[in-house]
Amino acid sequence: MNILVLGSGGREHALAWKAAQDKDAKVFVAPGNGGTATEKNITNLSINIDDFDAIAYACEKHSIELVIVGPEIPLVNGIVDLLSSKNIPTFGPTARAARLEGSKVFAKEFFRKYQIPTANYEYFTTFEDAEVYAKNISYPIVIKADGLAAGKGVVICNNQKEALNTLDEMLNQEIFGEAGNRVIFEEYLVGEEASFIAVVAGDKILPLATSQDHKTIFENDEGPNTGGMGAYSPAPIVTERIHKRVMEEVMQRAADGLIQESSPFYGFLYAGLMIHGDEIKVLEFNCRFGDPETQPILMRLESSLPEICMAAINNTIDEIEVVWKEDAAVGVVISAPGYPGKYQTGSAISLPPVDNINTKIFHAGTKIDQGSLITNGGRVLCVTALGKSLLHAKKNAYKTVQNVEFDGMYFRKDIGDKAL
Ligand code: AMP
Ligand code: GLY
Repeated sequence: MNILVLGSGGREHALAWKAAQDKDAKVFVAPGNGGTATEKNITNLSINIDDFDAIAYACEKHSIELVIVGPEIPLVNGIVDLLSSKNIPTFGPTARAARLEGSKVFAKEFFRKYQIPTANYEYFTTFEDAEVYAKNISYPIVIKADGLAAGKGVVICNNQKEALNTLDEMLNQEIFGEAGNRVIFEEYLVGEEASFIAVVAGDKILPLATSQDHKTIFENDEGPNTGGMGAYSPAPIVTERIHKRVMEEVMQRAADGLIQESSPFYGFLYAGLMIHGDEIKVLEFNCRFGDPETQPILMRLESSLPEICMAAINNTIDEIEVVWKEDAAVGVVISAPGYPGKYQTGSAISLPPVDNINTKIFHAGTKIDQGSLITNGGRVLCVTALGKSLLHAKKNAYKTVQNVEFDGMYFRKDIGDKAL
């Protein structure tokens, strides 16, 4: 089967690596990275992810039988609508269904309408209105840009000064461009986060293994938010009881609600949860797999990924059985100096050998330059390892991390600690 994975991050390296394990698979990645460039059975295609015509052309040229879309931007911009109209089987939601991630205001109104538990909120479109509100509330409060901001459009404000500054940046200085034209104030929630990711096909839901991300740059959840600095699977906070409730109160209501809105969801649906005792609240929905959650989750998946995707496209996910490894997995992201702010690229990377089964170094911001591997992004690598427990998986991952080298490399030392 000829498969095309769209994207260039650690998630896409993991999706392509997993797909390439199928005996008959021939995998292409557009545009891919330095890791996918050097995998057996994987070929990078030098295509810009925004160039939908070039993607459609590549599908024809390489007789692609399945497209798996990694990142949210092409989904929100309608890549699935386009490829499906050309009868190219594509795994991911349509633009209409992807609004769940593309607009936080849409998502919050959707939650309210379909009784999906979430934090209380208000939204504003002008600085003046938002300012009045900010002066009359208690803190902390969370301010979110409405549109896509690569995980950076969420600011926890501890006082009025921080809130006014954030509003000024989003609504006046437009640091997130159009994405910040509407802002949401959200009740600040306490608890422990978990990522609940499922394969959804209309009203059918196939939950994947649970996981937890580490959003901030520094240990102990301090510092600014990033795309994610590490993840582990499973997440013990998602007990059997919580799992059942999330399926009923979050995933099923979302899947059914999207059908009601004439936009049935096909693809990976990701609920970011805040769990506090018996209380479950949805922080956000993503219309795609998580990065870096994909890396530990797919390390644990025994079953064929292309088979799962095809079953979803063909509406038969209730007929397949998915097998997971008993092992836990921990993925540690190694970032470039400066990330999530302005970061340095172009440094030579040295990697230790790994077995690629129990330990795998997934690439994100890397590329091959004149035969050498160099840094090419903020999040550079995600070292992921299995172990018979989370503690073992953590030890295994960090053992390999110690042997990675590039100028100014940074990683959090506490990935997985919350679950231990
Ligand atoms: P989001 O992109 O909406 O998931 O937000 C990114 C991160 O900000 C989350 O993973 C949380 O760590 C934090 N966050 C978002 N919303 C809230 C909230 N209402 N209360 C507390 N923390 C939040
Ligand atoms: N790891 C968080 C995300 O993919 O949005």
